Order: sequence, then structure tokens, then C-alpha cells
Amino acid sequence: MSTSLTIQSQLQEKLTAALIAAGVELPEGISPALSISADLRFGDYQSNVAMMFAKKLKMNPRELAGKIVAALQESGTDELATTDIAGPGFINFRVTQQAWSERVNLLVSDDRLGVPQASNPANIVVDFSAPNVAKPMHVGHIRSTIIGDSLSRISRFLGHNVITDNHIGDWGTQFGMVIYGWKNLIDQAALEAAPLQELLRIYRAVNLLYKSDPAIAEICKNELVKLQSGDEENKAIWQQCVDVSKLGLNAIYDRLDISFDHWLGESYYNDKLAPLTEALKASGEAKLSDGALCVFSGDELEVKKDPFKKNEDGEWIDLPMIVRKEDGGFNYATTDIATIDFRLQEWNADKIWYVVDARQSLHFRQLFDISKRRGCQAELEHVTFGTILGKDGKPLKTRDGDLPQLEDVLNDAISASRAIIEEKSADLPAEEKDALAISIGLGSVKFTELSHNRNSDYVFDLDKMVALQGDTAPYLQYSNVRCQSIFRKLDETPDFSGLQAEISEEGEISLTRMLARYGEILPTVLDDLRPNILANYLLELARSFHSFFEACPVLQSEGNTQLTRLALCKSTSRILAHGLSLLGIDTPNRM
Ligand code: ARG
Repeated sequence: MSTSLTIQSQLQEKLTAALIAAGVELPEGISPALSISADLRFGDYQSNVAMMFAKKLKMNPRELAGKIVAALQESGTDELATTDIAGPGFINFRVTQQAWSERVNLLVSDDRLGVPQASNPANIVVDFSAPNVAKPMHVGHIRSTIIGDSLSRISRFLGHNVITDNHIGDWGTQFGMVIYGWKNLIDQAALEAAPLQELLRIYRAVNLLYKSDPAIAEICKNELVKLQSGDEENKAIWQQCVDVSKLGLNAIYDRLDISFDHWLGESYYNDKLAPLTEALKASGEAKLSDGALCVFSGDELEVKKDPFKKNEDGEWIDLPMIVRKEDGGFNYATTDIATIDFRLQEWNADKIWYVVDARQSLHFRQLFDISKRRGCQAELEHVTFGTILGKDGKPLKTRDGDLPQLEDVLNDAISASRAIIEEKSADLPAEEKDALAISIGLGSVKFTELSHNRNSDYVFDLDKMVALQGDTAPYLQYSNVRCQSIFRKLDETPDFSGLQAEISEEGEISLTRMLARYGEILPTVLDDLRPNILANYLLELARSFHSFFEACPVLQSEGNTQLTRLALCKSTSRILAHGLSLLGIDTPNRM
């Protein structure tokens, strides 16, 4: 069965009709504001339309609200929600027990769990993770990887055509150093055992030499030039580095249950850069300046908002984007322009989301500006995020002062949850404990990431993350286990087909309200691309379930009351598991 409208959109439709009946002309394509009430004493939903339109109609807002409410009642809205007027003219809606009961009938068997499909499906390219070859993924990449994956999953479920692309940095200046290291320092056995680690080791070692020994720096630069001019030996080493890196990265993605539709890294665009820059020059979009080919301001924006201007000592000066260096080399920006062209042409992208550290904001502002000038119609969005902090409030570092490696972080989280399982679920078989530790450990890392507003920094506190109590993945995973365990205690599997739920007690109403909200909040995640809306909703749902379970006995109840309550438990479990899966987190059956 596919989902009908949410209660919110049903009310919105009725409100639109009532507004028209009351003489309000709504601008084309605008639906009247109907928000979820912050305070339940005022009902479930609230609208301020009367206040918005009263002035235009030269009416008192309360009087207009009265007319709207009369029209609502006339149309039979009362079956869905009763209405009243509050304060200066707010219209409050309180959903009826009848309507809640029907929602429960629908939710228990709806394969979309009450979530409508997007009415405007779009081709969305999600550019995320994108680590750099030979520089292993560090925790900074964790945010991009986890946020990008979750946004992709959510958008797909909402009905968009999502194309995920791992735009890895496989063509940077680091290859001069890596090739030098490969020729002089590589340890083959280590490379086979832990490729990413070995590549990182040689990169770090050469980096030190590069800084201290000008002769070595010179050789590295030469290796890069040789690579870029097509030297066979260097090309072969480069290819091996990329292959080995991809293997290592894939091992991490597999662990995290993350996959990409494409891996079109920077190198994929190599042969497109020369013609692109020629075209930019020919069209006048880029100009030569001191031998470099640069994009300057389009002079269409206010200088303060212009990404091609910067203020130096009170004066606005040009801040060009270099697309071809003096030595003829291309860079990150050039590749990104070519990448947009490709995504528009080949994938017909309507939207491109770049899930990248906020520190690259200038790059993206410039990139988006020049793309718009070149006629790009797609919506381009830099999905920014902040920093992960250590307990000392400073950016997270290892004891040696290095950036922690993603793998280590995942392993630490798994060990921490293994310790808790050992303590709390001592009698589970060892194999199950191991599997559980992985599920909880990885879930904890993901949930901590996704439950924070992506633009805020957060403190990485393993003990808190894996705790069973608190705003954590294990709390949600455990809540789901608790819902499921109710069904194990029954003699037979309940049959919900033809369910005629009867919702009446406060605990039942509150839980139903939360369940129905899933379809209302999920689409709003995409308004600002904030998975924390979903994460926090799931926490609220779990809390609401626990209160319901305290207040309303399930196994001790009988007849239709019991069937209704079981339907609530079933739906809670389904939504918890589904919501977690959209965050990339799995749900164990036992804990
Ligand atoms: N490789 C880059 C980095 O690690 C991120 C690339 C993001 N995507 C893009 N199209 N620029 O900083």
C-alpha cells in the first residue's frame, strides 16, 4: 500500500480551500503555513494565516480567523481535527481520536511508513567523502562521508534520482612526493598488508625530507613534472598508488556500508582541462594576468558578497580564481569547473551537493559564481560542516599530534562498545557479542555525527557515544530491541490486516502523534540538508515509546486494546529501524 497524505498536508489542503472560501487569494504555488504546535496545549498544528492576510483584506485577524474556521467546519474538517481560535488570531487544530486511530491502521502496514514521495523528483548529484589518494582518510573526512551518505539515502527514499560520486583527489601535487617515496622508501610487505598506512608513511617521511632538503624537494618536483607530461614509469607508479588506495578505501567503505555510483576522481578530467581553459579564455570569462589564466569578478554582486574581491587595508582588491598556472599547470578549481560541465551534460543534474569542510567555502563560492555566469541552471550547494574536537576542546589529534585515522577511530568505538556489551550482556555467545560491538560501535560514530547540527563543532567522547543511556545510537538500537521483544512473548503473531485501532489514552495519542510525524519531518531534512532533524526525531520517538510503555500495559491488556497497542509497538519498531537505516545505522535483534 502506498502512503496517502500526511495529516499535516491533509489539513493544509483543507485550509487552502477554506481560505479561498473566506475570500483570501493565495499567491500561485503557495500553501498556507501550518506548523506543528510547539505547545500541545494549543493542539497539534497551528496556523497564522489569518494574521498574514487580514491586513490585505482590511479585516481584523480574529474576524478573518472566524470566517476561515467556519469554512473549515463547513467542509467537514472536524472529522480530522477540531479547530479553535487563540490569541490575536491563531487557528489551532487538534487531531481527533478517530483520525489518530485511522493513522495507526494505515501506518502499521504502509511500506512507506507514512512518508510521501517527493512531488518534484530531481536528479541530485551528491559529491562526498572524496579523500585524497596517498593521504589516508582522517576524521575530517568522516563528517563528509557520513553526512553525504545519509543525505543520499534520505533523498533516494524520498523519491529523488540520486547519483553519488566520490571525487577523490587522485591528481594532486602530493604525487611528486609519493612517487619519490615509492621509488626510494617503499616497504612492499607493509604495502600489501596495509596499503593506506604504508602510503601515508612514505608521504609523511618524504614530506619531512622535502622541507629539510632542497635537493630532494627538487627531485620531487621533477617527478611530478614527469608524471604530468606522461612519463611511463611515473604513470605506472601513480596508477598503482591509486589502485592500492582505492582498495584500502573500499575496505573502509564496506565496513561503513557505504557505496558510490561513481568514482570519477580529479584525474578523470585531465584531458578536459586544456580545452576548457581555452574556451574560458576565448569567451572572455578568464583573462591572462601575470602569465596565469584567471577568472575575475563578474561585477554583478555587491562588493561585500563578491567572492572575487577581498578587503585589504580598507580597499577592495581582486581575488581571482586561477584556472591555469603560469607554468601551464591546472588546479583544483579548473577540475571542479570541468566536473560541473560533465555532471550537467552526462547526468542532467538539477542539484549538486558538495559535502565538504567549511574551510573550502571561498573555493565553492567562486566556483558557483563562475558556473552561474557560464549558464549553469542547477542548484549548487556547499554542504558545510565544522570540526571534530577532542575532550580538551581543540581539534581532535592523536597523542603524537597527528590527525587521527578514520580506521583507528572506528576500531576504538568498536572496542569501547565491546567492553560495555561484556558488562551488560555477559551471557550472549562471543560471536554475537562481536557482531553487536561492530553494529553499536559504528552506529555510535555515525549517530554522534548525524545528531549534531553539521555546522557546529562537536566533542568526540567515546564513552558518551557508546553509552546505552543518552542521545546515542545504542539507546535507539536498544529501544528497537525492546519493541521487538514484546512480540517474542506472544503466543502467536498478531494479524494487523483489517486493523480497527482505537486510540484514546494520552500515552497512545502521544506515541501516535510521534509516529505520524515521521512523514512530516523526513522531507524537511532536505530543506537545509540537515540529517540531525531525523536523528533528533528518532530520539523523541524512542522517548515517547518508553513513556507509552510505562503508562499503557501491552501484554496485560486484551482484545482490541491489545491489538491497537501492539500495532503501536510494531510501527515504532519499523520507524526506528527505518530511520536508523537512513542514517546508515543497523539494528541488532538482540542486545
Ligand atoms: N579532495 C578534496 C579534499 O579532501 C575534497 C573534494 C571535494 N569535492 C569537490 N568536487 N571539490 O579536500
